[in-house]
Amino acid sequence: KKKIAIMTSGGDSPGMNGVVRACVRMAIHMGCDAYCIYEGYEGLVRGGDLIRKMEWYDVRGWLSEGGTLIGTARCMAFFERAGRIAAAKNMILHGIDALIICGGDGSLTGADRFRAEWPSLLDELAANGEFTTQELQPFRHLNIVGLVGSIDNDLSGTDATIGCYSALARICYAVDLIEATASSHSRAFVVEVMGRHCGWLALMAGVATGADFIFIPEKPREDNWREEMCGIVEHHRKIGKRKTIVIIAEGALDREGNKITPTMVKDLLADKDGLGLDTRITTLGHVQRGGTAVAYDRMLATLQGVEAVKAVLEATPDTKTCVIAINENKIVRKPLMEAVQDTKKVAKAIERQDFNEAMNLRDAEFSE
Ligand code: F6P
Repeated sequence: KKKIAIMTSGGDSPGMNGVVRACVRMAIHMGCDAYCIYEGYEGLVRGGDLIRKMEWYDVRGWLSEGGTLIGTARCMAFFERAGRIAAAKNMILHGIDALIICGGDGSLTGADRFRAEWPSLLDELAANGEFTTQELQPFRHLNIVGLVGSIDNDLSGTDATIGCYSALARICYAVDLIEATASSHSRAFVVEVMGRHCGWLALMAGVATGADFIFIPEKPREDNWREEMCGIVEHHRKIGKRKTIVIIAEGALDREGNKITPTMVKDLLADKDGLGLDTRITTLGHVQRGGTAVAYDRMLATLQGVEAVKAVLEATPDTKTCVIAINENKIVRKPLMEAVQDTKKVAKAIERQDFNEAMNLRDAEFSE
């Protein structure tokens, strides 16, 4: 019987439990044994009871649970070769030669590296006398498939990452709540949202809530952003708006690459010689990441989990490590490292303040 393991890694995202449920059940449905690796790569390195065989009913009710019930961790040991040797040994001890990993680009890069190194890890295990060459024979080819779990929607090559629509829904809900009190007091609110190097959450939340102004990392405002923002807010106030909402991505920058902070924006809106608005800051933080998944993320998690198991079963030794994506409403397989490299290109363009390039890359992603 083929043994397929599933793990979640990096920052959690709503929908990860749906992924685990779908993979476990599809694996069993296809006549395989399903395993869960608890605590992400940490579980792979430490082994023991962190690697558990799962049955159909073990994942009952998981679709509607938030976070990841099998845990996740940022594991330093896996960055060291000794950690990866221990991980390979644990997999072989459990008879596992196929791994489905749901995480962000960092976790998926780690997975690809593990697969590339796999033959040399086996050689080292044989040389250390841990296993005989014969014992290692069935494990010659490690099969890895990635699923993108992230609230940021920051992976190139897929229209949506698992969790991004849940986070967006939560942001909209929070902004709706804030708007009520903002309106009562005729106040301004600066709402900081997550998204690391990616402004998708801030941009779409701005569209979905009708915010007055937004800041995202990929497209810093012109140097006159202060005047521009105040001008727009002033105009909105003049036409009778009692509330002001400015959404700022946590990675927002100005043209020189300096961080634009919520405090800077608040001070500007509150400036007595300017708009003089009674202004508050709300940092939404991890509220965006926790809680149950919206229907779209449950659907995506399920369809992609099923596809991941199919990809594992159809893989040959020559198949490149793939990531399961969604493009124009179709679930597709894509080469993992190309998606990761394209993602890194955007972050690097932002780092070197080549914002035209960052925007071109993002545009290309969405018109793909
Ligand atoms: O990548 C997901 C994310 O939530 C980012 O939006 C955010 O910058 C980061 O993780 C926060 O990480 P942590 O939970 O480790 O503080």
